Amino acid sequence: MERTTAEHPVTATPPLATGVAWDAEEPGHHRFSVDRYTSHAIAERELERLWPRVWQIACSVDHVAEPGDWFEHRCGPLSVLIVRGDDGQLRAFQNVCRHRGNLLCTGAGSGLGEIRCGFHNWSWTLAGELREVPSRRGFGALRNEDLPLIPARVATWGPLVFVTLDPDAAPLSEWLEGVPADLAWADIDEFHCGVTTTTPVSCNWKVVAEGFSETYHVQGLHPEMIVSFDDVHAAQHLWDRHAVSYQLYGVASPRLGPVPEADVWDSFCRTQGRRLGLAPDDTVPMPAHQPDATAFELLVAAIRAESGRRGADLGRFDDDQIMRLRQYNLFPNATVLVSADSFNVLVAKPSATVDRAELFTLHFDRRPPGAPRAKRHPTDVVNGLDAERLGLVFNQDVRAMARLQRGLSQPGFTHTIVSSEERRIVNTHRALATYLDGS
Ligand code: FES
Ligand SMILES: [Fe+2]
Repeated sequence: MERTTAEHPVTATPPLATGVAWDAEEPGHHRFSVDRYTSHAIAERELERLWPRVWQIACSVDHVAEPGDWFEHRCGPLSVLIVRGDDGQLRAFQNVCRHRGNLLCTGAGSGLGEIRCGFHNWSWTLAGELREVPSRRGFGALRNEDLPLIPARVATWGPLVFVTLDPDAAPLSEWLEGVPADLAWADIDEFHCGVTTTTPVSCNWKVVAEGFSETYHVQGLHPEMIVSFDDVHAAQHLWDRHAVSYQLYGVASPRLGPVPEADVWDSFCRTQGRRLGLAPDDTVPMPAHQPDATAFELLVAAIRAESGRRGADLGRFDDDQIMRLRQYNLFPNATVLVSADSFNVLVAKPSATVDRAELFTLHFDRRPPGAPRAKRHPTDVVNGLDAERLGLVFNQDVRAMARLQRGLSQPGFTHTIVSSEERRIVNTHRALATYLDGS
């Protein structure tokens, strides 16, 4: 059920479900008990009831574009192997050998001709059929057809590959609710993955996901960005599970009052310079030859020119589609950020303990229609210190997450307080309760 029907109106906060995972509803805001970020028991319940049942973003289509390409998706202790078969079909399997349980593949790669376990050399075809058991007679009667790899489900939306371990899950197209229709204008198949990163973060995975689920924090955490970003009129839309915020860039926050156009330009260069072809955190002076033009107009022209240099014509997109970022929060743990020239994905994954997470990011560039996909992109593992290279704003976010987890661990702090402006967080917790409270 969608919660709004008009174009992009701000929606009412959804009613809270009752049950142990919910706290009392109060007018205007909600309170969430801190244990959902700190309790090992709740993390275990998520592992049992949530992660095996949801569709999750695993990788890009570019990672598994050709027969023999493979990618290992990890989520806490869960591991799913995604393989493009000789027949061109994409398949997924639980990443476990049917002999004695060894993990079959780790990381990502290409050129796989079979799936062979490195422990005792059992092997399967890329379609998951058992084909070789060394010293087979020692097992007595063993039929290949009884021991295929355990299947998982895989599906794609645009350039993204999703997996789920739930054989009874709704199709991905249904799971995504109204999101694909909302983005139909963007031709997202044209986005190709250029870089992926994995960053360990010292916090619960929900702290990571929630860091990309509201714009309320921009005034405090990102003073450099608020000069070129309207955080006040960012309309939101909630579906049952997912949500979106529409955020206009190239204009200053109304919180600031009048701001010189050159400051808006400078702020955009510092915080989104890559879209202009700049190195991270680099700036260039505002073009002086058009003194009457606004920063918004000059930025649109500069982004169109930079995309053109990379071979992607933005001529079919209007200025709003370039400058208004769509921030989709895909339940439970992914944020998909889309404008006409950019497509970035942030995935918050649980890690070994309740207070550890992994932030997996995928960064895409628009390419000309029909451009061949690069055969493979290695996963670029980034440790906490190297995260500086991800850019000023992103790094501010990641640093804040560890601070937040430490704060959440203080014994006198029992509940967070979440405003209607942070309604996407409320929506996620409401959907989460349907998994954690259910049997
Ligand atoms: S555990 Fe895989 S072949 Fe033995
Ligand atoms: Fe942020």
